[in-house]
Amino acid sequence: MSTSPAPRLPEGNEIRVPVALGDRSYEILVGRDLLARAGELLAALQARAAAVVTDGNVEASHGAKLRAALGQAGLRTETVVVPPGEGSKSFAELERVCDAILAARIERGDLVVALGGGVVGDLAGFAAAIVRRGVRLVQIPTSLLAQVDSSVGGKTGINSRWGKNLVGAFHQPSLVISDTALLDTLPAREMRAGYAEVVKYGLIDDPDFFTWCERHWPAIFAGGAERDEAVAQCCRAKAAIVARDEREEGDRALLNLGHTFGHALERIAGYDPERLIHGEAVAIGMALAYRFSVRQGLCPPSDAERVVAHLESVGLPVRPAQIPGGWGSVDDVLAAMAQDKKVKDGALTFILARGIGQSFIAPRVPADAVRAFLSEEAAR
Ligand code: GLY
Repeated sequence: MSTSPAPRLPEGNEIRVPVALGDRSYEILVGRDLLARAGELLAALQARAAAVVTDGNVEASHGAKLRAALGQAGLRTETVVVPPGEGSKSFAELERVCDAILAARIERGDLVVALGGGVVGDLAGFAAAIVRRGVRLVQIPTSLLAQVDSSVGGKTGINSRWGKNLVGAFHQPSLVISDTALLDTLPAREMRAGYAEVVKYGLIDDPDFFTWCERHWPAIFAGGAERDEAVAQCCRAKAAIVARDEREEGDRALLNLGHTFGHALERIAGYDPERLIHGEAVAIGMALAYRFSVRQGLCPPSDAERVVAHLESVGLPVRPAQIPGGWGSVDDVLAAMAQDKKVKDGALTFILARGIGQSFIAPRVPADAVRAFLSEEAAR
């Protein structure tokens, strides 16, 4: 909501990725140990107080460090802790978070700080968008998925009984601080799931980045310079798409590669993290999008095989049958897709591919073609 020019932030060794959105432009800072510098960085935004929204797990790991950093910089800080997990993207938690932000006397010049993964970022971001008709937001993403996707680009929201992310707002952050050292303690399954979104950027329009990932993924998982470079490259790619289509009226839909199938599978799995987490659903969804593209005669089979082989090599699922507890019937998947907000006038919109790095928006995919494809997948 700030209309003043982007502030000058104190320099460090981090990689800086600009997001060019006119008077709502901001920077994404990527590097190790940035959390300790959060105080000086937030102080440069000239806020006097911050409401930190986080979940119970992240609070236990990183809450005290962030509060110490903010305290040293003289920011009054209040913390709101929500339960970990997708269930917190609810009207009930939104009300609780908004109430806590107001109780903390956060004013429009102050900050809401989202310290956590995608759930916290979406929930805190939506609260920041609506409290006092808009309070500035700083994203401090603590998962790989949040660092490369959900913390960037201003999508915020909660889930509805009708589906995921159906209630929300665009609210760009004023700053994103991606401390890649926070990923050192991320559970391996979460790291793999976030990596699916890294691969996605290569598949959308950057075949060289996909090839780089095939070579460097072990170093990305291990930490170090390749991890920082991967996060920064994903942010550059997303920033470029968001800068030309902030509100998903065109190209931004490319970021949904793997998501039409993926969201449907998440819905069928009841958003149960024991069965399927978002990045895993995206991995299966991307594999399906490529296989479907092959079936439609759009994509060489060898490209789809290469995509599947890379996802498998890092331990990601690539077939719906790998979801514990199964994936229902083909009709269940089609019905779940019909609830997706990417459906327009009953037509299914998919992101399909002519090859690695050659994705495109296919807005009118006949349901019969999807049904026939899924029936084949069910028989695999
Ligand atoms: N995660 C997709 C988007 O930000 O548009």
